[in-house]
Amino acid sequence: MDPSVSGLTQRLAEAGQSHLLQFWGELSPEQQADLTLDLQGMDFKEINGFFKNAMEVSSSSKHEKMDARMEPVPREVLGSVSRDRGSLKEWEQAGLHHISQSKVAALLLAGGQGTRLGVSYPKGMYDVGLPSHKTLFQIQAERILKLQQLAEQQHKIKCCIPWYIMTSGRTMESTKDFFSRHNYFGLDKSNIIFFQQGMLPAMDYNGKIILESKGKLSMAPDGNGGLYRALGNQGIMEDMERRGIQFIHVYCVDNILVKVADPTFVGFCVQKGADCGAKVVEKTNPTEAVGVVCKVDGHYQVVEYSEITLATAEKRSSDGRLMFNAGNVANHFFSFPFLRDVVQKYEPKLQHHVAQKKIPFVDSQGHLIKPDKPNGIKMEKFVFDIFQFAKTFAVYEVLREDEFSPLKNADSQDGKDTPSTAKHALISLHHRWVLNAGGHFIDENGRRVPAIPSLKDGTDLPIKCEICPLVSYGGEGLEELVKGREFHPTLMIDEHGVHELVKNGV
Ligand code: UTP
Repeated sequence: MDPSVSGLTQRLAEAGQSHLLQFWGELSPEQQADLTLDLQGMDFKEINGFFKNAMEVSSSSKHEKMDARMEPVPREVLGSVSRDRGSLKEWEQAGLHHISQSKVAALLLAGGQGTRLGVSYPKGMYDVGLPSHKTLFQIQAERILKLQQLAEQQHKIKCCIPWYIMTSGRTMESTKDFFSRHNYFGLDKSNIIFFQQGMLPAMDYNGKIILESKGKLSMAPDGNGGLYRALGNQGIMEDMERRGIQFIHVYCVDNILVKVADPTFVGFCVQKGADCGAKVVEKTNPTEAVGVVCKVDGHYQVVEYSEITLATAEKRSSDGRLMFNAGNVANHFFSFPFLRDVVQKYEPKLQHHVAQKKIPFVDSQGHLIKPDKPNGIKMEKFVFDIFQFAKTFAVYEVLREDEFSPLKNADSQDGKDTPSTAKHALISLHHRWVLNAGGHFIDENGRRVPAIPSLKDGTDLPIKCEICPLVSYGGEGLEELVKGREFHPTLMIDEHGVHELVKNGV
């Protein structure tokens, strides 16, 4: 339909976005129909408002450092895997009890575009090259399955951990299709709930929406904090309520070590009476570009490395650790009532953050330009933006080598957070599980490989060893399989038994 007849031309003119129709006459009828559909679904007044607020916040905060307003996490809200060893069992038992009552849900943030990794499919479908070639989605699904079994065995009651998976317009179909092709990895299909986050247009610095082709706007997901709006407008809170969910573990798709619905974390947060909790790893290097959980003006917040001075980043407590050392790993706990309040009351108060990007665009002559420096912005909310609304906050510190190895970048020499580093992190964890359970590894000459590999021979790579999550969720249950035994790597332990893959050269 002619856009002037439908009122679209006028709406665009009022919003200062008329340029979006500048190539209308050159589009095919199908392209015109698609563009009309896209534009009709957009609230330009709202988008312009987002832009204005985001730019204001971004320019006012640019030069202001947070230092004077920050306080570290107080010890009383902190639980630590290494410093509170005596309480871990109790927290784990409490968490397993809640899981057995089907009160705990896992919520996966998988709406990102994975631009740095550079694959065309959702990141959860990525195979980092483990001996089993399992994808991130499969590893997480199997951890959920195993955790359900552990809770069921302990409490003699059937239970489920519903798995909410947030995708975006770009990843929804391929994600759903992948799960269906893999038969939901053994989980009950009805307990996997896919939902879609919103998208926002990329804009130039003058607030004009960018066209990525003559008939198509440049759109991107609205950040992992788009979660809260999506939970509201996709009916997810009602679904959780119907199922009696009380506690939610939210996590990112890219952490290969993630302990999905971690009972110890959940048990700890519940025992603290927390409505919101964050898992953190110790930041040890002052210049590491990781956000830290701390208090700002009395409210919890994640402060990015760029928001503080080096002097503050380098400050140390009397125990020698960095004062601001609670490194955020995007692994959160929410009570259901808190999440509902966030969705209903607080979400609209959150401002978008501005990410300056190089955004391909068509110029006024219709040529596609790929800029070599940032030419516009994407607007995003972050999942942790809502910490400030928590009444009771808890922080749980875990060991990085046990729980955090994100996949962000494509493989490159000495690269950080790559498929290789993720693979090594998992293999090395499983290696340690076998050693802890009393197993040993021997080399090709039949000699025992020392538990701490020597760096002298350049082989600081972990012994190849992979344990299927269906066998062990967090290192438990391995003694009967490995204690007192010697293995040639590659060692695979899965639901069919213990295998050494060395002879097949795998
Ligand atoms: P990142 O910020 O690392 O983004 O996401 P990304 O999409 O994985 O990768 P790049 O930046 O494009 O290279 C952290 C987590 O938040 C999710 C991602 O899927 C990942 O689990 N996320 C990110 C969303 O769910 N939605 C978004 O809009 C952005």
